[in-house]
This record gives sequence, structure tokens and C-alpha cells, in this order.
Amino acid sequence: MKETLADITTQILHSSGIDQEIEAVRHLSAFYSRFVPGDQSHSQQEKGNEVLLQGGIALSSYDAAICLDEFIRTARFLKGTHLALRELLRRFPGQKLNILYAGCGPYATLILPLLPLFAPAELDVLLLDINTDSLRSVAGILSAAGLEDYQVNMQQADAIRYQSPASRPLHLVVSETMFYALIREPQVSITQNLAPQLQKGGILIPEEINLDLVFTFHGEEPYLKSTDQYPSRLPYGHRLQVDRLFSINKELDFYRANNSPGIFESKFYELPTDFSATPDLCIHTHLRIFGEVILHSAESSITNPYCVVSLYNLQGYTHAALIYDFNDIPQWSYKAKGQKI
Ligand SMILES: C[S@@+](CC[C@H](N)C(=O)[O-])C[C@H]1O[C@@H](n2cnc3c(N)ncnc32)[C@H](O)[C@@H]1O
Repeated sequence: MKETLADITTQILHSSGIDQEIEAVRHLSAFYSRFVPGDQSHSQQEKGNEVLLQGGIALSSYDAAICLDEFIRTARFLKGTHLALRELLRRFPGQKLNILYAGCGPYATLILPLLPLFAPAELDVLLLDINTDSLRSVAGILSAAGLEDYQVNMQQADAIRYQSPASRPLHLVVSETMFYALIREPQVSITQNLAPQLQKGGILIPEEINLDLVFTFHGEEPYLKSTDQYPSRLPYGHRLQVDRLFSINKELDFYRANNSPGIFESKFYELPTDFSATPDLCIHTHLRIFGEVILHSAESSITNPYCVVSLYNLQGYTHAALIYDFNDIPQWSYKAKGQKI
């Protein structure tokens, strides 16, 4: 089992181009399906155990499981995390790497497939999830897949508040607890809590989440509707890239730059007077998982474009600013100023 998993993961790491990535992650999906019940037998509990936290919604075990089939997302995260682990072994020679995977879901998708590519002596993994059902599922898969030799611990906890013991300085924090434009799910609050707990030289995955303001025609932009159908369309030709709103990285500069806790407020941007070709004010998300490994807009549901407001609704104003509030369930709003005469 361990060897089969190693082969599948190696195929994912070597895949180049979207078609190969999709094909390789389909094999991983089939591998997992040997250990978990099919769709029909998922309990109501697994479907309904979504948790509302102060900072965002933690997906149910069922919804977290199907993230695996976001094929390009999964391929890029595994590629980036693998590179990060190799880099950390180089940065910290002879040390066992302390890994914290916050929000592992029922498959621990972004770490478990990488285990057979490392020696058990190299990694010390802590898997965290708010859902005990998910942790129970991962425990079952680890033993069924013959990965008991690895040091993998599990803990039910809220990653927004979790404090890593000083005796276990963190080399790597991995978390994919986000939705497009960072709405709904608690990625930002989790990062705000965990990134400062990394030791010097430690790595955060994703390394950077970038949110850009664009004026565009939302309905004409590539958008991933189903993982069976990846959008092949080119970016909308009249798209106007306005500005980088902020980046989330381990330095969390965007957070310090703002005055109220849990709120980002952009500057005011001038609105186009003729917006017939670009009628929507949108946010585009892309991730630098690690180094050169990027997840672009519309390659996954977490990087799909998000329309905040139609410019038709802002007629009469000259400027608008965007506000991101992640104190509770993360969401975007806007304010407008300057009466047109
Ligand atoms: C989007 S799913 C991703 C699952 C898996 N990591 C993957 O990438 O395929 C997010 C997972 O994080 C968990 N989660 C979200 N917020 C959390 C929090 N504050 N503390 C612990 N777990 C959390 C959810 O329960 C869910 O299992």
C-alpha cells in the first residue's frame, strides 16, 4: 500500500500541464476510495458537522473530503508542500521537522500522500481538525495504508486559537481553509494565529495568497464550475487590473497596516466613467503555494473570481473602497464617495 501511494504521489509531483495533473490526482482519489465508504454511505453526521467559528465556517467532513477532487489545487499543494519539506531539510540539517497541518479534513490530503517519500525519522506531524469524525477517518487511513511507522499525532482543536508547545518549535504550517476572495472560511484568522508561531526559517503553506482588485465582465471571466470541466477560456480581454488589495503571508503585513483588528480597508479607487466593457468590480485570487508553484485564478473553486458589486450600482459615485471583515464569517463590503455631477 505504502509503495502504491509513493508511486501515485511521485506521478503527481512529476506531472506537468493540467491534463497530467488531473489524471495523476484521479489516481490518488481512487486510492483513497479503497479506505473510505462511497458517497451513498456517508453518514448524515459527516455531511452535517459543519462548525461555525468566530473567524469563519469549518467545512463538514464530507465537504472537506471532496476538496481532494479539486484536482489542480491538490496537485499544486502537494508539489509546493513537497518542495517546502525538501527545503526545510536543507535549512535544518539533522533535525526532525515539526509539521502542523491545520484543518486536515478526513484524508489529510496535503500531507499524508507525501509521507512515503520521506523517512519516518525526518517528520513529526500534528494533524489538527475541529471535527473528530475527520480525525477518526485519517487514523483509519494511516493504518490501512501501512503508514504506522510515521510519527503522526492528531488533535481536535480550533486552529484559530491553538498554541503549539514551546518544546515543539514549528518548521512547517500547512492550512487550506479558504474559499475564493477569502470569504466564508477561516484561513485568515488561522494564519494570524499560527504564522507567528513558526520558528525563524519556518515555512507557511500556502506561502502567499494574493487578492487583486479588477474591473471586468464577471460573466466572461474563466470560472471553474465543476471539477469535471476545467475552464479553457482565456482571461477576458478588456479586464482592467486595478491594484493588489493585499497579500497574506507569514509576515501578515496587510494585517499590521490596518487600524481596526480583523478589518482591512482599501484606499478609495477611481471608478471608470465608461464601464460598458467592464461592468463589475471583482476580486481575483491566486496562490503561491511555495516558490514557483502557483495556483492561478479559476484553476480551483478557491481561486475563482468573486464579484463584489456591479458598477451599475455605483453610478453617481466617482470612487469606491473595499472592506474585508474577518472578525466573524469573513466577507467583503464596499463604500462609495464623490457625487458625479
Ligand atoms: C477546505 S477543508 C480542506 C481539507 C483538506 N485540508 C484539503 O485540503 O483537502 C478545511 C478543513 O479544515 C477544518 N477547519 C476549518 N477551520 C478550522 C479550525 N478553525 N480549526 C480546526 N479545523 C478547521 C475543516 O473542518 C475542514 O476539515
